[in-house]
Amino acid sequence: MKLYVIVPLCALITLTQQAPSRDKCVCDFTNSEKAFPHDKLSAVEDNASRCNTYITPQKTLELESLLLGLERRLPRLAEDVSTLEREDDGELYGVISLQVIENELMEIMQLIDRLNSTTLEDQHLTTNATKQLEDLKAEMEELETYDIMQVVKRQRENQLLKSNLTKCKNGRPTTQPTEPPRGKCPRGQFRNITGPRMYIEGEYPGSYRYGAWGRDSKPEAGKESWHWLVMMTSSDRYSNYVRLYSSLSALIVGQSTPGNVQIHSSNPATNTIQGPNVVMYRGALYYNCYNQDEVCRFNLTSKTVTNIKLPKGTRYNSKGNFCHLDECYPFTDLDLATDESGVWVIYTTNQDFGNLVLAKLEDDEQLRLGQTWHTSAYKQGITNTFMVCGVLYATRYVDKETEEIFYSFDTTTGVERFNLGIFIKKMYPNILSLNYSPVDQMLHAYCDSYMVSYKVLFS
Ligand SMILES: *[C@@H]1O[C@H](CO)[C@@H](O)[C@H](O)[C@H]1NC(C)=O
Ligand SMILES: *[C@@H]1O[C@H](CO)[C@@H](O)[C@H](O)[C@H]1NC(C)=O
Ligand SMILES: *[C@@H]1O[C@H](CO)[C@@H](O)[C@H](O)[C@H]1NC(C)=O
Ligand SMILES: *[C@@H]1O[C@H](CO)[C@@H](O)[C@H](O)[C@H]1NC(C)=O
Ligand SMILES: *[C@@H]1O[C@H](CO)[C@@H](O)[C@H](O)[C@H]1NC(C)=O
Ligand SMILES: *[C@@H]1O[C@H](CO)[C@@H](O)[C@H](O)[C@H]1NC(C)=O
Repeated sequence: MKLYVIVPLCALITLTQQAPSRDKCVCDFTNSEKAFPHDKLSAVEDNASRCNTYITPQKTLELESLLLGLERRLPRLAEDVSTLEREDDGELYGVISLQVIENELMEIMQLIDRLNSTTLEDQHLTTNATKQLEDLKAEMEELETYDIMQVVKRQRENQLLKSNLTKCKNGRPTTQPTEPPRGKCPRGQFRNITGPRMYIEGEYPGSYRYGAWGRDSKPEAGKESWHWLVMMTSSDRYSNYVRLYSSLSALIVGQSTPGNVQIHSSNPATNTIQGPNVVMYRGALYYNCYNQDEVCRFNLTSKTVTNIKLPKGTRYNSKGNFCHLDECYPFTDLDLATDESGVWVIYTTNQDFGNLVLAKLEDDEQLRLGQTWHTSAYKQGITNTFMVCGVLYATRYVDKETEEIFYSFDTTTGVERFNLGIFIKKMYPNILSLNYSPVDQMLHAYCDSYMVSYKVLFS
């Protein structure tokens, strides 16, 4: 890489001399150093890009999360074993402690099994990749010795000089283009998403087609890495509990602690979860209450439910669903969403002729409906929606492999766009819930019973 800057260096010299006279000048460049090994650099570059194709983000991510899981659990095991030893009265170990340790051991064994079963080929790949990376590093270090002329630094100076020259020519300093106010969007504008970053089968692979999962967008202290899962366990329509996982690796290996948090023992009952588009925020689950045009908030700590009725004319009980040409997704009347600023509800009404309506939910002690926006996007032509930085995004079904983020509505400016052209690469044909987590800038999708996530890219 460093090589390419030798040419601009010459340009630098040319430029410096050119400025006063504006006449042509000739620049002699004598290089007493040994020639830079072009071919070696391009060989390293080739190897590096080949190496990249072997290690996909999914692979490293899965390994990383498994290893993280192990790292967290081993100290806990050590601690519990020493507690057990203290409790040892010389003959019998405490039965309870033994059980705790047995459980932990089992969890650790499962993690190790999963690590091992990332298949022999994967292990092979990892060793191969490590070897290749080491080789590349050595090569780069060798190449670095050629950077005696500090060409990189010179190139930077050259650019500064060029920009000073431009300013001078124009007779005034060039001003930076003004950026739109960012408000609560520290990362800038949503631009694109990556391919799938995480793919999780979960504990019930293929069992519950409708559901949602993710991370609390404003987690309580000590629960920062918790993940949640809600599956429509009855008639593809209802659920009466939230399943919690202490970390992503716990979710991957299917170890649910602290387990299920139940809203009501029967399913369905009053305050049952209806439909898959639910979210978790500040330790509470937001969802469409069973058989009502209402949003429910279930506080997982106090186990209490607060609800709020949506305006008259709101379509519910599968009258205002997300759809594509072949299919409507039942009981997707209300879509809850989170972003940097809080919780939102997306729905439609008779008076809006089936177009999307967006409202902010004010998360006080009493649940309140805040400002509301009416859009011109027809809900039945949309498969799901999510919010990023106060902007509503909607997706449509393209084919089995692809979903398109095609629409946006900016609540700050009121501007609507129908031509975003950002594509989601799907692992399964149907995305049944989709939500953005500002905590890790991931889009969490629940697809035909599988959990998939994508990283959001900002400009
Ligand atoms: C590139 O990789 C090939 C095959 O692994 C190896 O033979 C070669 O030495 C590598 N070249 C560099 C410059 O690292
Ligand atoms: C890993 O898997 C291989 C093949 O399936 C097996 O032979 C080996 O015992 C396993 N190792 C551990 C530590 O479980
Ligand atoms: C290891 O790397 C080499 C070249 O870098 C490649 O030809 C070979 O197929 C790789 N092995 C595996 C198992 O991918
Ligand atoms: C460019 O101009 C600024 C002041 O306008 C000056 O501080 C800086 O040193 C100049 N850069 C170069 C490379 O001449
Ligand atoms: C949930 O309940 C706890 C305990 O009553 C309370 O401290 C917390 O603020 C509540 N959370 C929400 C989001 O209302
Ligand atoms: C988004 O990223 C993909 C590659 O990941 C690229 O092919 C595509 O052109 C990008 N789309 C936009 C709108 O920038």
